[in-house]
Amino acid sequence: MSGYQGQDRDRHSRAPQVLLCRPTYFTVSYRINPWMRPEQRTDTALALRQWENLYDVYRDLGFRVRLIDPVSGLPDMVYAANGGTVVDGIAYTARFRHAERAGEGPAYADWFRTAGFTVREAQAVNEGEGDLLLVGDTVYAGYGFRTEPAAHAEAARVLGREVVGLRLVDPRYYHLDTAFAVLDPAGGPGSVAYLPAAFDDASQEVLRFRFPDAVIASEADAAVLGLNCFSDGRTVVHAPQAEKFAADLAERGFGTVGVDTSELRRGGGGIKCCTLELREP
Ligand code: ARG
Repeated sequence: MSGYQGQDRDRHSRAPQVLLCRPTYFTVSYRINPWMRPEQRTDTALALRQWENLYDVYRDLGFRVRLIDPVSGLPDMVYAANGGTVVDGIAYTARFRHAERAGEGPAYADWFRTAGFTVREAQAVNEGEGDLLLVGDTVYAGYGFRTEPAAHAEAARVLGREVVGLRLVDPRYYHLDTAFAVLDPAGGPGSVAYLPAAFDDASQEVLRFRFPDAVIASEADAAVLGLNCFSDGRTVVHAPQAEKFAADLAERGFGTVGVDTSELRRGGGGIKCCTLELREP
């Protein structure tokens, strides 16, 4: 028996439980971020195939994958990360910035309730794990486009975690998870990747201080939503177009799996956007 080392490895490799939403009704019919072009046709069948591939990869990695039923008229519901923030079995609900997505908040809240999570209704505008990302025992919280700073305080109270605000300044990177990736949920100096230019100077300073060994992404890799990846701490599932990013991850000892979600990128989301982590106590 390998004692501490074995236990440590087990802790870090505990398979995540994630919530996904099939893109049955996916299309781009309105524009709430610069990626969305409602005048261009979307291919829902292609989006479905790409999403199914992501589902299969997660299953193959041993993740527990759960599904919420998509709702007609809510085309962005595929981006499950925005449906809430779940820590220690507590689901802090989402409250969307835009009317087009408002119906998703209650839909996800109902799912959490039925699944047995403790639901805490948000008063402040926040778009779930799109902007609230747990690294170690700290929640990093984006603001500037969608989630309002009042939600940071609310999340700290509800989730019982330190919350560190990061101001986003580039409209293409309107959610934190488009510019900041958690590579190792356990935390540590090299546990994240980010695009510095997506943040204001003060936030870049915070990031340098907290994550001195972070992977610094290139503009090119961020522009294919390469940072919108999902990692269990060992294997990073990422956009295959983010080639340099994937090479940097491999050099750091991460396993890498490319999953193309190019059709879903037309809504302004990638792999992480499609993935909500359900953390039980
Ligand atoms: N069309 C969606 C929106 O603009 C995309 C959401 C992407 N999700 C994410 N977690 N970044 O709200």
